[in-house]
Amino acid sequence: MANLNNSGEREQWGSKIGFILAAAGSAVGLGNLWKFPYMAGKNGGGAFVLVYFIILFLVGFTLMLAEIVLGRYTQLNAIGAYRKIGKKWAFVGALGVLAGFLILSFYSVVGGWVIAYLVKTLTGALNVTDAEVLGNMFGKLISGTTEPIFYHALFMIATFLIVLGGIGGGIEKSSKILMPGLFVMIIVLAIRSMTLPGAVEGIKYLLVPDFSKINIDVVLDALGQVFFSLSLGMGCMITYGSYLSKDSNIPESAVTIPLIDTGVALLAGLAVLPAVFAFGFEPSAGPGLIFITFPAVFAQMPFGTLFEIMFFILVLFAALSSSISLLEVCVAYVVDEWKMNRKVATVSLAFVIFLLGIPASLSFGPWAHITLLPGKGFFDTFDFIASNILLPLGGLLLCIVVGWIWGTDNAIKEATNEGQLEFKFASFWAFLVKYVGPVAIGIVFIRSLLG
Ligand code: TRP
Repeated sequence: MANLNNSGEREQWGSKIGFILAAAGSAVGLGNLWKFPYMAGKNGGGAFVLVYFIILFLVGFTLMLAEIVLGRYTQLNAIGAYRKIGKKWAFVGALGVLAGFLILSFYSVVGGWVIAYLVKTLTGALNVTDAEVLGNMFGKLISGTTEPIFYHALFMIATFLIVLGGIGGGIEKSSKILMPGLFVMIIVLAIRSMTLPGAVEGIKYLLVPDFSKINIDVVLDALGQVFFSLSLGMGCMITYGSYLSKDSNIPESAVTIPLIDTGVALLAGLAVLPAVFAFGFEPSAGPGLIFITFPAVFAQMPFGTLFEIMFFILVLFAALSSSISLLEVCVAYVVDEWKMNRKVATVSLAFVIFLLGIPASLSFGPWAHITLLPGKGFFDTFDFIASNILLPLGGLLLCIVVGWIWGTDNAIKEATNEGQLEFKFASFWAFLVKYVGPVAIGIVFIRSLLG
């Protein structure tokens, strides 16, 4: 039976570090490397980073713990976990699966761009320094029809092949090698970028907040970005937590994972924005920001092509270790709830998500004129609905279910392994889950609805 090992027990992570790496692997991905720099660039740099940090401290750590604890306690997928707490809450898990579905569809399109850039580097096509040429190249790729869809298909195939391998085999092993590699690479890049002539402006732009830039759109984008980047609000960490053994240290993991994730996001920002200013690009360039700046930075480095190949390989793996977690949530649901065969579930879900990604891809080219929400085509609409609405809503409901229905006392008992572990901030955490989380998310929602 699926998700069970040979002796009929639920499959578990091979080791403590295995879980942290896999969960960090889920968190660290295109959200950090691609989305964070472009969101910061779009929302005034330092202003966005400041709001991001406030939300991270108030709800990021809090919800990370809440999800992992709920998963390990119930040992179930997102929907099953909510149902075990109370029948009528199963819909929260269902919202999460829906969010995962939507996110993976456009995530895979961007993952496809990464593969395309890897191929372009290997064939020497990216050996250009001219900013304008690089911009046009990116535009040409994403506005095409067959080329981006072909690469989107490749990314989706890679994702489901790893998920077919099961959680221990595929997910854990690859994270162990690739995460540290990515970390080193992004540090090298940040150093090169920050030492380019004119880079200081970019460092300032990212780190010095201009308070006049903070408005409700910035706050909503930052809220969505915290959820997106930490893989929160859709049951991803519930699902991963469900494979944890009963003696694991959840409070520690709930701190470590967001720290790693934020570290990588900040480094990515420091690798991108200084270069943006040094080369005279626009920080608000949008989703293409990293694809235009990174090749320009690599062109300024000795052995640039070699570094670039390594870099895109690592970005690809970071993206895959996240995309597999998105697919895993959907698969775990179908397998646990509908008793579907794991292989069949994986392949059919991957196919449907691939189809959903096609309009997302076309919305940069032939379908650019179609808007679903004001000013937003398929890609931006999927992203907005999933990241800025479904994930925070899932987080809000998670706070209510863990804080008020299941109860923080029960949750703390589970988090401390029945009192065996130390959890210094337990009562502060309870306060954050019960009051701060729901109120903060609620206010942002109401304010952004009022416009
Ligand atoms: N956090 C991942 C990233 O930054 C994306 C991701 C994986 C995700 N699983 C998720 C986002 C669950 C939201 C919910 O790239």
